[in-house]
Amino acid sequence: MAPGAQVHRIGMRDYHHGLLHGHECVIALTRVGKAAAAATTATLLQRFEIDRVIFTGVAGGLHAEVQVGDVVIGTEALQHDMDARPLFPRYELPLLGLARLQADAELSRQLAHCAERFLRGRASRVHRGLIATGDRFVGDADTGRGLRASLPDALCVEMEGAAVAQVCHEFGVPWAVLRTISDHADPHADIDFLQFLREVASVYSSGILSHYLRT
Ligand code: ADE
Repeated sequence: MAPGAQVHRIGMRDYHHGLLHGHECVIALTRVGKAAAAATTATLLQRFEIDRVIFTGVAGGLHAEVQVGDVVIGTEALQHDMDARPLFPRYELPLLGLARLQADAELSRQLAHCAERFLRGRASRVHRGLIATGDRFVGDADTGRGLRASLPDALCVEMEGAAVAQVCHEFGVPWAVLRTISDHADPHADIDFLQFLREVASVYSSGILSHYLRT
């Protein structure tokens, strides 16, 4: 954030409001999990004049094509731990009548383009598709296997995206999720995750978003 950004402390989070590459932006760390992400998003949308939301962070790869260091842009997001059966079908968000939340097509397309440009010359690839969200770090073989079996088209798993998406959907605000793959959602996930966070994740997120803001 450029010098002169204002910091608003609301609900135990800092919202940094200022100019980035000439665009008025608000940046906040949601913290971990669906409730934390939903609370942050609701505050963002109610306290600031927000016309689009981009969530960025890391995720565990689920799909065979998705490797550590790749970037996933969610075209849709689903809460894999939402299960109100027999009242509602598995994954359906009660009273919303849908399970898969659709990202803004144009925003996602632009981010994918920026990610391709940023990653040019690196081994990493860009994927677009379903992101699975739940309040669980997937670091064991059984959970990863279960997710791959029940959601074969899910590219990656994380803990916030579909919660941000639900709040944006309810407020009618376009959203996108951009994730860098830090691990394979398996028993090595915690070690890969911590090493990756230190070495790559923030570089990718800020690099791709800088491209987006400059275009
Ligand atoms: N974020 C990064 N890696 C993850 C994993 N394995 N499970 C859930 N969220 C993650």
